[in-house]
Amino acid sequence: MSRRTLKLGAVLLGVGGPGQHATWLDPEIPANASVDVNWYIDRAKAAEAAKFDLVFIVDSQFITENSPNHYLSRLEPVTLLSAIAVHTRHIGLVGTFTTSYNEPFNLARRLYSLDHISGGRAGWNVVTSGDAGTAGNYSRDEHFDYATRYGRALEHVQVAQGLWDSYEADAFPRDRAAGTFLDPTKQHALNHKGEYFSVVGPLNLERSPQAQPVIFQAGDSEEGRDLGAAVAEVIFTHARTLEQARAFRTELRDRAAAKGRDPDTLLTLPGISLVIADTDEEALAKEEARLGGRSFDRALKELGRPFGWHDFTRYDLDAPFPDVAHLGERSFRTQANAITKLAADNGFSLRQVVEHLSAQARSPFVGSPTTVADTIQRWFEGGGFDGINVTVNAPSEFALFTDRVLPILRERGVVRDEYESTTLRGNLGLPVPENRHTAARTAATTPDSPTPDPISPALIAR
Ligand SMILES: Cc1cc2nc3c(=O)[nH]c(=O)nc-3n(C[C@H](O)[C@H](O)[C@H](O)COP(=O)(O)O)c2cc1C
Repeated sequence: MSRRTLKLGAVLLGVGGPGQHATWLDPEIPANASVDVNWYIDRAKAAEAAKFDLVFIVDSQFITENSPNHYLSRLEPVTLLSAIAVHTRHIGLVGTFTTSYNEPFNLARRLYSLDHISGGRAGWNVVTSGDAGTAGNYSRDEHFDYATRYGRALEHVQVAQGLWDSYEADAFPRDRAAGTFLDPTKQHALNHKGEYFSVVGPLNLERSPQAQPVIFQAGDSEEGRDLGAAVAEVIFTHARTLEQARAFRTELRDRAAAKGRDPDTLLTLPGISLVIADTDEEALAKEEARLGGRSFDRALKELGRPFGWHDFTRYDLDAPFPDVAHLGERSFRTQANAITKLAADNGFSLRQVVEHLSAQARSPFVGSPTTVADTIQRWFEGGGFDGINVTVNAPSEFALFTDRVLPILRERGVVRDEYESTTLRGNLGLPVPENRHTAARTAATTPDSPTPDPISPALIAR
């Protein structure tokens, strides 16, 4: 069995995500980076040269004037990833797509097209949309409640995976001499009628190089963790301490095992912020300067997002934190509850909450290249994560990681030297699910084998 190695993701955040208020002022970053396709292509090529497993495009579809700069004007993920695909050869292409405001057929088709275009490198970060205001862009008066959001999400993914099995591997003989283009016995309708979706199928796209795009998931609620344990192959998360990271990863692995899955087919990749300099002291000073670039006013406004973009500027900053927990109910409920609990447990004012959250932006991965490599290795070997998602802003900062930290980790055997496969699934070491119809055919000829579940691929248990 090959040695477990650290997986690497690069989050392309253009002119800056939440809390990154000064990123757009960096002279290394074009002020229109978030809409400049060549900026993304160049960043993806740099990540590929460093043998990263994937680039990750976050997304959402509701903004206000207070949204993070990158969110205000950015490219649609499948369109963007298709452009990156033709300029790269190995790196995985992962985009965020919501199950709340897409139909499974439409999304399955777009993602499967990306898998064909990229030669098997597509990944889907399944989200349910935290921004309640998205409802207003999709002809709805209000966003779905949590039970509906996650119920739709599970069924949506299962339908998409069913559609991706529409054709068996050898469905298209394309035999000109015999006049046989299609073998109709290898084309399968889905005929799905569920609680949220009715989809007849088949998908009008043959089996892709990866067979099934890789499923990523990032929801943190009870319902979100349950969805992740059921269908995800990679979990995106945040981690502040090794103990917290280890507890989260263990919990997700246990949940997956309880659903009959091999926990090693569920990888955890927290997003981490890196601050690297020649010495530990210089790195700490650099982080200090970076935190100093955060604007209290922007942070106060961004605090509104988990609460359905509630306007916190209307309150007295030094009064007790307002009673607003209910506003998160159909938005980012988990995050909203965590913030109100933080305030209640500590008796914090609004100002103290904003300051505390800003201080939490301090990273455990700050220091010289050796210090950062040591910390990453300790967390990886201590069961904190299977890989890391690194935010890419200024190219020179990213190069400090690729040119100075990665060689140390490679020398120690923590990171692999070369791509092992042409597909994202292959590089992540994830199994290729067998086409369910092929599996059923095989099972029919071997009477003792179990009949595969009609909705989920053979290797992805619910
Ligand atoms: C690392 C990470 C990345 C995320 N990326 C996105 C994203 O790109 N778009 C989005 O709508 N939500 C994103 N989310 C939010 C969640 O998927 C989820 O919708 C939100 O956390 C609310 O659901 P929950 O209460 O189950 O966590 C992300 C969450 C995490 C932890």
